[in-house]
Amino acid sequence: MVDHIRMAVAGVGNNVSALLQGIEYYRPGPGDPSLVGVTHPELNGIRVEEIQCVAAFDVDPTKIGQPLTEAIHGSTNNFPQIVDLVGESVTVEQGILSDQIRPSGVEQVVQRLRDTEAEVLLLSLPTSRPAAALAYAEAALSAGVAVVNCSADPVAREPGLLRRFASASLPLLGDDLASQFGSSLIHRALLDLLARRGLQIDGTYQVNLGGNEDFRNLRDAGAPKLTSKLNVLSTVPGVASLSVIPSGGHVPFLMDRKVAHISIEGRGWAGSRVAVDVRLEVQDSSNAAGVIVDLVRIAADGRRRRVGGFLGAASTLLKSPPPAEDGWER
Ligand SMILES: NC(=O)c1ccc[n+]([C@@H]2O[C@H](COP(=O)([O-])OP(=O)(O)OC[C@H]3O[C@@H](n4cnc5c(N)ncnc54)[C@H](O)[C@@H]3O)[C@@H](O)[C@H]2O)c1
Repeated sequence: MVDHIRMAVAGVGNNVSALLQGIEYYRPGPGDPSLVGVTHPELNGIRVEEIQCVAAFDVDPTKIGQPLTEAIHGSTNNFPQIVDLVGESVTVEQGILSDQIRPSGVEQVVQRLRDTEAEVLLLSLPTSRPAAALAYAEAALSAGVAVVNCSADPVAREPGLLRRFASASLPLLGDDLASQFGSSLIHRALLDLLARRGLQIDGTYQVNLGGNEDFRNLRDAGAPKLTSKLNVLSTVPGVASLSVIPSGGHVPFLMDRKVAHISIEGRGWAGSRVAVDVRLEVQDSSNAAGVIVDLVRIAADGRRRRVGGFLGAASTLLKSPPPAEDGWER
């Protein structure tokens, strides 16, 4: 039995809803709990249910002031309710505004992180809010708190910031989650397989559709996500043409489900044609929570052991980790 991880969250969206409900879902009850869907029931000696949320920040006026247990179902969130969250809830507090970053707003977050003795700050902001993401990371650094960045905005890929986290013995893990079983993971594995078997890949594409707020945001502001997905896919050798559409559109009817179409065309022995088409359907935010639960435990463990900067154990859980030259080992 270890001390529970004291986690703060910035961005009370679908990812956080799926994470907190999942932690409750896996809490041991009478009999053996089912651990189906958990990659590591125990990681660095820490179990899934040993993560506790001690502070929450958002900028949506309908979430601020609400108990976190209610805010996770509010506003644009549409991850389904799978359990009732029981016990005392923290209240969602005013976060750092993306377009008006004031020192007083950052200082409030620093103070709250200190007061709640948070160990890890989970940054779960919409993608394309780079200044806000960096301001939260600075607040965490001032308060002595490790950071996990879910979004595709560069935070761990800021070399100066990463060095400062390393000097402070604080982990900084990012950027952009590689979902538990997501389209880039599958696409990459298929391209690697064709290349390894000697096939020529003439062209390939990936189109993603979903009905949650992340998809609506990525439809209009998807540039960092495109870069991040290309980081995963563009290093397969011999791919003549690659196209990635992070959000092919917002389809409200899909709710929090994501549908991805992956297509690959190539040539095998004596020029014979090969085509692969895959349709992947997942609950989008569960797919995120399934890796966040590991990243938070890796970050907390690193902070407790006073190992800072980027930690190699996190690299396969992220689409865009910092380059290894930035001082971490695989
Ligand atoms: N779902 C996945 O599988 C997946 C995979 C990889 C990365 N991601 C990334 O994770 C991030 C979070 O995803 P989500 O689905 O939870 O998004 P979401 O849109 O459901 O939630 C984002 C939350 O952040 C809040 N917010 C906006 N600006 C803020 C600020 N300045 N301070 C505090 N809160 C702020 C919003 O009000 C909202 O509550 C996104 O960047 C997404 O691209 C998700």
